[in-house]
Amino acid sequence: MNPASGINPEIREKYEVTAFAPATVANVVCGFDVFGFAVHAPGDTVYMRKSSKPGIHILAIHGDGGRLPLEADKNTAGVAVNSFLQQTGINTGIEMEIQKGLPLGSGMGSSAASSVAALVAINALTGKNLTKVELLPFAMEAERVACGSAHADNVAPALFGGFILVRGYSPLDVVEIPFPDYLHGVLVHPDFELKTRDARNLLRQSVPLYDAVRQWGNTAGMVAGLMKGDDGLIARSMVDYVAEPVRSLLIPCYSQVKAAALAHGAIGCGISGSGPTMFAICRQDPSLVGKAMQQVFSDTGLSSSVYCSKLNPVGATVIQ
Ligand code: HSE
Repeated sequence: MNPASGINPEIREKYEVTAFAPATVANVVCGFDVFGFAVHAPGDTVYMRKSSKPGIHILAIHGDGGRLPLEADKNTAGVAVNSFLQQTGINTGIEMEIQKGLPLGSGMGSSAASSVAALVAINALTGKNLTKVELLPFAMEAERVACGSAHADNVAPALFGGFILVRGYSPLDVVEIPFPDYLHGVLVHPDFELKTRDARNLLRQSVPLYDAVRQWGNTAGMVAGLMKGDDGLIARSMVDYVAEPVRSLLIPCYSQVKAAALAHGAIGCGISGSGPTMFAICRQDPSLVGKAMQQVFSDTGLSSSVYCSKLNPVGATVIQ
């Protein structure tokens, strides 16, 4: 899907720069806070221009039902732009509009998509041309404001695209993992919200050694499977002993949805980020897998939306 198709030409013509950042799947089952991948669509769009009025002004947010704050210090896009301007010492007024293509509280990286699109836009608008590695900490700061934790497993893939390993946080060390070209992702978003902050608070703060050993075996197996294009190894590695056992309880018929995905040929399936969206990865077009997952939700009375896409190797882009 062409990200530009979600862009409103009437808004776009009022602004100097338009940027898009895609949905992301964080954790990818076995890599809590360290794995994430990007899809092509849906995503968020940010329109931006310089202003003679000092400060950062979010003039409008579309597609959020009026729920997101326009105050720049409470909005992830505003926080990211403010961090950028503070760090670079650039003194300019900014006006922007945000078009939400991503549902709030969905586990699809909604807050990350807004902050990353805003960063890519401000980077182009000011001509600063920082690298994506240099932009990443500003987006992480926005995540801290959004949910109390500066994790990078949504913002990094939204920015860089592809399949990302956050090898370390201190110092930050982000690695792009090669992945097979044939990989598709399907995201099935049941129609309810979970707050990342709440879903994080559910997790236990220590992991027994026995589980830790199994978990790091799986994270290493996942990387090896992706690099070798070994679907069997990827499938065996998509098991989680850290977050899924607790968080899956928040998603009605979780095991049945997962079973339906695997029965229809998915390589693996799990919770996207902190949920409630569930994702699967597949070798071929995943629309049948998506339909099967959606059917299970539907059978329990939950409506859902399905998004299918190949993995997005590029990440956030300036459209204009
Ligand atoms: N790794 C984060 C979590 C992602 O699972 O809490 C949030 O989308």
